[in-house]
Amino acid sequence: MSAVSRPQGARPRVLVTGGAGFIGSHTCVELIQSGYDVIAVDDLSAGSAEALDRVHAITGVLPILERVDVTDRHALATVFERHSVDAIIHFAARKAVGESTEIPLSYFHTNVAGTATLLAVAKEAGVTRIVFSSSCSVYGETRAQLLDETAPIAPTNPYAWSKHAAERMIDDGCRYHSDMRAISLRYFNPIGAHPSGLLGEVPVGTPRNVIPYLAQVAGGQRERLNVFGADYPTADGSAVRDYVHVVDIARGHVDALDHIDDHPGMQVFNLGTGEGTSVLELRAAFIEACGRDIPYTVLPRRPGDVPRLVADAGSVREAWGWKPQLDLAAMCRDSWNFQVANPRGYADAGRP
Ligand code: UD1
Repeated sequence: MSAVSRPQGARPRVLVTGGAGFIGSHTCVELIQSGYDVIAVDDLSAGSAEALDRVHAITGVLPILERVDVTDRHALATVFERHSVDAIIHFAARKAVGESTEIPLSYFHTNVAGTATLLAVAKEAGVTRIVFSSSCSVYGETRAQLLDETAPIAPTNPYAWSKHAAERMIDDGCRYHSDMRAISLRYFNPIGAHPSGLLGEVPVGTPRNVIPYLAQVAGGQRERLNVFGADYPTADGSAVRDYVHVVDIARGHVDALDHIDDHPGMQVFNLGTGEGTSVLELRAAFIEACGRDIPYTVLPRRPGDVPRLVADAGSVREAWGWKPQLDLAAMCRDSWNFQVANPRGYADAGRP
């Protein structure tokens, strides 16, 4: 039974900030299918209302959408007045590493001030359970082959610093408010899409992340993949990441709600597979999935990138039995299926 529950058998209700985004929308599906009611709070700056219509198509339930910016304290407070909420999953954030070096203050505003505002409003409303969307990027550059949760914190860009600052804030909130419980999930590189082909990653403008870019090259919308750096100290010289299927990540959030009362304070867990994949290996896996060639050019390293980030995901497996169920081939297959079915993202459905 869920640790987040309400009396008289009513479905527990989760407020999902960023619920119309990539990981948020997949999490809405898993929550609904696990017996939760969902209220999505999203300003639709990167997410789309169409994603919630797709959640409806998959689950038969349309999540309530509150179109609110998490930094808007007044608007957020009215959301908590309108709905009784049992727990929060907080995704709403800016998430492009490169962009964060161009507009760092905007990253701190949305990701740090937004989290502070949400925590304050939640506290006033008596909501004390929060699952936070964090990132492996808080670890920064490391020599370790596998990173567990005790690895040193050493962010290399404003995005990563903003995630670390928000985590720290939640941790201190739990430390000094004894009724508060939180779980911070540090994802490695979430990719893939819902196996239905209805939900996936829809970048705004030119994709900054590697998988949506690869998908657009395979789909003929872009000419070639730019591989950022082939001179890293890795087997083939390109940077190594731990790619993990977005549906496995989404399931991790449902598990987190189930286990949020296991310990006082804030618990921290990595969500990754423990398998490292280089950019060139990812390209090869994508070619296998789509059956098309993907031309590429090697460019210089991207500022802020690190050579290798791979999870030791042992503690979450030990604590909850969470382990990834979908492999790299499934990640590439599902990303490609989504691309084929939605070449212009959600725009074909009439919504940007
Ligand atoms: C980063 C964050 C991660 C965050 C994610 C969200 C770090 C270390 N990681 O992932 O925590 O969740 O952003 O956006 O800050 N690449 C190319 N060509 C491209 C695009 C990317 O070669 O066109 C390479 C990158 O150099 C990198 C790898 O592909 O080596 C993955 O890049 P990307 O998909 O952007 O994710 P990260 O930067 O690893």
